[in-house]
Amino acid sequence: MVAETQKNLEKVFEKQRKFCKVNEIVEKYKYQKQNLIAILQEVQGEYRYLPEEIMTYIATIMSISPASVYGVATFYSQFSLDPKGKYEVKVCDGTACHVRGSMPVYKAIKEKLKLKDGKFTTEDLQFSVETVRCLGACALAPVVVINNKVYSKVTPEAVKIILDKLLERSGEGDKAND
Ligand code: FES
Repeated sequence: MVAETQKNLEKVFEKQRKFCKVNEIVEKYKYQKQNLIAILQEVQGEYRYLPEEIMTYIATIMSISPASVYGVATFYSQFSLDPKGKYEVKVCDGTACHVRGSMPVYKAIKEKLKLKDGKFTTEDLQFSVETVRCLGACALAPVVVINNKVYSKVTPEAVKIILDKLLERSGEGDKAND
């Protein structure tokens, strides 16, 4: 019994060490449930998404049910439960962008990054790709946003050049071009 308790405590301590940054964030918000959205925002800022394990951990240290945390994380579209890449590529597929060719651009990105079988994030976590609704810049359609930088009137050829530059910068050029 004692050995089992000891084991469980060790597990908790190990998690606490692993989630040191999460502890800091939750502590900053004084473990209060009404601050859960702000806590999840900051945690997502650290990890680029909300891993299930971390949501469970947050629930434990805040003494709330994992379902409450999961409920908030799934209710708001700003939260992602899937891993995001270092570069978050958003392809607008609002009406104006769609009419002016956003889907060929999206397809070119997925091909370039070798994202197949419904995958949206590269295995090395360098890039994630998603379509989004109108970004309010229809005159620039089709629009692609990469980490808040807006690219206008993008063509499939142009987006490959943009990605090449980012791949070079992240030192992953060889992998995507082989
Ligand atoms: S439809 Fe793409 S910015 Fe409006």
